[in-house]
Amino acid sequence: MTDQHGPTTTTQPLIRVEGASKSFPGVRALDNVDLTIHAGEIHALTGENGSGKSTLSKIIGGLYTPDSGRIYVDGELVSIPNPAVALEHGIVTISQELTLATSLTVAENIYLGRLPRTRLGIIDWPRLKADARRILDRLGVHVSPTTRVSSLSIELQQEIEIARALSTDARLLILDEATSSLSETATDRLLTVVEELAASGVAVLMISHRMPELYRSATRATVLRDGALVGDVPLPETTEEQLVRMMVGRDLQDYFGSRDVEPGEVVLEVQDLETLDGSLKPTSFKLRKGQILGVAGLVGSGKTELGLALGGVLPSRGDVIVNGYTAYVGSPREALAHGIGFVPEDRKGQCILPGRSVAENFALSWMQQLSRLGVMQLGVERRRVESSMERYGVVAASSGVAISTLSGGNQQKVVLGRVFARGCEVYVLTEPTRGVDVGAKSAIYRLLQDLASQGAAIIIISSEIPELLGMADEIVVYHQGEIRGRFGSDDFDEEAVASVAVAGRVHAKAS
Ligand SMILES: Nc1ncnc2c1ncn2[C@@H]1O[C@H](COP(=O)(O)OP(=O)(O)O)[C@@H](O)[C@H]1O
Ligand SMILES: [Mg+2]
Repeated sequence: MTDQHGPTTTTQPLIRVEGASKSFPGVRALDNVDLTIHAGEIHALTGENGSGKSTLSKIIGGLYTPDSGRIYVDGELVSIPNPAVALEHGIVTISQELTLATSLTVAENIYLGRLPRTRLGIIDWPRLKADARRILDRLGVHVSPTTRVSSLSIELQQEIEIARALSTDARLLILDEATSSLSETATDRLLTVVEELAASGVAVLMISHRMPELYRSATRATVLRDGALVGDVPLPETTEEQLVRMMVGRDLQDYFGSRDVEPGEVVLEVQDLETLDGSLKPTSFKLRKGQILGVAGLVGSGKTELGLALGGVLPSRGDVIVNGYTAYVGSPREALAHGIGFVPEDRKGQCILPGRSVAENFALSWMQQLSRLGVMQLGVERRRVESSMERYGVVAASSGVAISTLSGGNQQKVVLGRVFARGCEVYVLTEPTRGVDVGAKSAIYRLLQDLASQGAAIIIISSEIPELLGMADEIVVYHQGEIRGRFGSDDFDEEAVASVAVAGRVHAKAS
């Protein structure tokens, strides 16, 4: 009996944190939090921005000393006063903050502090290069080991950071939002490597609020809210909706906000709109003032192309009628002039100038008007930008900082805010909350509800069906370039919408 209930090697967690608390002046960042991770487990740590995830990971990584609490490694009480001790326990962290020595080469950075030496004590370059090459190949990173880090993009630098962590014999690998500056392919490669490591017995603490990543890799999730532990739950048994509800601590009605509006007259009428390249087949629908139309569909279904056609990006034919007048949408500028504000899918590539300030990025839309005066009127400009930032809830140290220093959520608010500032009749928004944490998502949903309440008609094109169910009055589902399903709000059903998107089965709303 005693044997079965006592600690055994198989049930002993690799790491156990008990009652960790940490305060900073004016904020209780962590309040009596427990965390248990077993060898071979990928454990998600999630919560809104500021909920204490990084603080907890820094306590485990020896960067912060907790005010109280205990840490056990293999059941032994330990103290982790600095990162070197963490490393002795096999605890390795990959964070968003880059820590590379940029004047050194890729290979030197990967093996910094552990450079292989020959018997004569000099650096064994052939071996260093070969070892680095192997790690880089495993991650699919195509840079030469002898390249200087200073010449690499931020994404590649992040990958070198990851390569360095993987080259150690980690027993616990902590990924603190490590994928946030990675592309989808790089993220995919990283997750594959992480899954292999876990299969070989490494424990992984994966900090992220990107649901697809969590559900792909993790088998448990610990959720924090305002520094406190909300729960430690199994995945995928816990649904995304339940997880989000734990993070935000309110029910989803509150999460999506609400609008107080009776749909008014028809503001947008689309008749037989099709793209010349055939990706969108003749499509027709109407949208009233104050209404939100949700557009669902898989990649290649035509939903993205619908947005591009309405936004004047993709050549099309057919009728787009705004407030009774035919809108010529031959270019984005024309679409805008006819009252259609369009936000494309690819924020990083198409919407922002990453090196430029928040103010300049905000001003992109009215820049053309101002620049006609010859010199940009900076005073006027700054006041206008700052009032917009406040209105759209953009959190930044000032309007002068580079937009790339903002969180994804705040960048997105800039992108949306500058279109909203145009006062359009119709907004066509593609993936408006992609890459945005749950808190900022909720803020964006409220902005959209307010716009609709003021009479705007909004089209949300999204691959996240829950957000369409939470926001829209009606959902249309595209498949192979055409509408195959229409759902009214009394008829909303996630599985039904998904099955039309996947299988193209025709669904018409009853009534
Ligand atoms: N070094 C610090 N000094 C002061 N406040 C901090 C520090 N680190 C974190 N905080 C605060 O503690 C809270 C939790 O932050 P953090 O752990 O970074 O959250 P998360 O990683 O979940 O976004 C926040 O309110 C943050 O502002
Ligand atoms: Mg953090």
